Amino acid sequence: MCGIVGYIGPKATLDVLIGGLRRLEYRGYDSAGVSVIGEDGRLETRKKAGKLANLVAEIEQHPLPASHIGIGHTRWATHGAATDGNAHPHLGGGDSKLALIHNGIIENFAELKAELLAAGTQFASETDTEVAAHLIAAAYEKSGNLEQAFASVVRRLHGAFTILIVHQDHPDVVLAARRNAPLVVGLGDGENFLGSDVAAFVEHTKRAISVGQDQIVTLRRGSVEIRTFDGAEVVPDEFTVDWDASAASRGGWSSFMAKEIADQPTAVADTLMGRLASDGSVQLSEIDGLSHDAIKSLQRIYIVACGTASYAGDIAKYAIEKWSRIPVQVELAHEFRYREPVLNEHTLVVAISQSGETADTLTATRYAAEQGAPVLAICNTQGATLARESDAVIYTHAGPEVAVASTKALTAQITAGYLLGLFLASVRGATPAAELRTIGLDLLKMPGRVAEVIKSSKNVEALGMAMSDAKSVLFLGRNVGFPVAMEGALKLKELAYIHAEGFAAGELKHGPIALIEEGQPVIVIVPSPRDADSLHPKVISNIQEIRARGAKVIAIAEEGDTQVAAYAEHVVHVPQSVSVLAAILTVIPLQVFALSLATALGRDVDQPRNLAKSVTVE
Ligand code: F6R
Repeated sequence: MCGIVGYIGPKATLDVLIGGLRRLEYRGYDSAGVSVIGEDGRLETRKKAGKLANLVAEIEQHPLPASHIGIGHTRWATHGAATDGNAHPHLGGGDSKLALIHNGIIENFAELKAELLAAGTQFASETDTEVAAHLIAAAYEKSGNLEQAFASVVRRLHGAFTILIVHQDHPDVVLAARRNAPLVVGLGDGENFLGSDVAAFVEHTKRAISVGQDQIVTLRRGSVEIRTFDGAEVVPDEFTVDWDASAASRGGWSSFMAKEIADQPTAVADTLMGRLASDGSVQLSEIDGLSHDAIKSLQRIYIVACGTASYAGDIAKYAIEKWSRIPVQVELAHEFRYREPVLNEHTLVVAISQSGETADTLTATRYAAEQGAPVLAICNTQGATLARESDAVIYTHAGPEVAVASTKALTAQITAGYLLGLFLASVRGATPAAELRTIGLDLLKMPGRVAEVIKSSKNVEALGMAMSDAKSVLFLGRNVGFPVAMEGALKLKELAYIHAEGFAAGELKHGPIALIEEGQPVIVIVPSPRDADSLHPKVISNIQEIRARGAKVIAIAEEGDTQVAAYAEHVVHVPQSVSVLAAILTVIPLQVFALSLATALGRDVDQPRNLAKSVTVE
């Protein structure tokens, strides 16, 4: 949700800014803009609606001067349509010497705008952001002190914001403030950077600082100073980025999504690394903060997340409950927060988030912390707000995920959920240790099996391409197959923009079966037939019910399941596994299917319409 980059140093600023925006474009792609202070001392701005390429073309036509300080923005529109005028940076003051970029929403902008209008301020856009630019410029005109003016205004703003400014009279400093929206500093040698995330500057430096809540950064070539909104000095917490720029580049792949699907064996292997011993026993030293006594006294677990991450939570629920016998409830973070659930120190809240910056998830975990519940994050982004604010973190090691639609982060989250389930079960002694080790050993084999699924996905690709005229696709599953079905439907909706729904297979006859008509494609996640209490026969019955009404069935089934072929037009096989673990495998053909169908329709699979990655507003 809006990408922000700032730079001061000896390099060609425009190159740094455009390079950073290119890697942040997944956060928003409605419009983009940059402001630089040229070597001639003048502040210049270029901005353009549409993707970053439009801004680059604009700069080619109207070049910017050489400069060593600047800010850049890629927008996901909230207030005001995606137009040139509403694109950031916004200029402040009658002399337009101040340029400002913003990620988030200024909730009290109407009242602040009324104040400015009464004072005769002219507005050039419909955004909430522009009020901040004019207020800071006005405060600076009065005090002559830019830092003071900036601090006094950010203290007045309500809502979520990361704000960066540069001012023509101060070509040696970039100021930034952060409340409820992400901001990281990149530390260089004689140069420094700001970004919404480390992707903005990782090609230049791996040394980073995650800026805390309600803090202001004063960025100069040779120094980075961080203070609270009230002026207290902050000792920053430095970390080293554990991936390099090539991990966030597309390489030779047709899309980031295609690359990230192919990255999944590594994402799963890296998430398992150091956490499962060769005998299958689990070690999760990251959550040492939660004592064994505290784990033993847990009465309930709430998993909170949004979108695809919430399906990882649904899958984790089956595993955690089955193995540890702790009741688990999965809730969409935005629903959880505002129904004010009853929580206490015996309720563990597990928040799952790739970005660690999803506003809905953060609001839910802040509520949980206020109620005294321990919060455990499953997060993919080092230094993210969720990780900083949680009592313990299990990092997924999927590496940077650039495509808006989540793929490798999901399989890494599912993996982390299984690890957590095994760990809780072993501490509580709810399942015999030998049985847990057998499951652990099976989990260790998952990276190889994921690689096999990806290698054999050509037929799924062909199916996706052949079905590009489908008006609607339904997905069915039971047990862990149910959230997999919902994820398959979400991927298709967001990438191909066609109607898709995921249902619990058993629920169909309670209503949704009315949707089935001649030729309706239905993708069914079929459980393993090998378990004693297998749901396989029930799913086969569900398939028969829909086929009798004309459905065309594509089954995702385990290798060796010979029965299913008689009931499906197409069968996609995945390797055998412990049945609860199968979700890591069965979800992959659905990713490939959505990618190929959307590609056949000519959609932009990395940047689907209306979406942005990292949703930092509620
Ligand atoms: C869908 C997708 C989203 C995210 C959701 C949560 O493909 O990517 O549904 O899963 O917005 O994002 P994070 O995991 O960053 O909290």
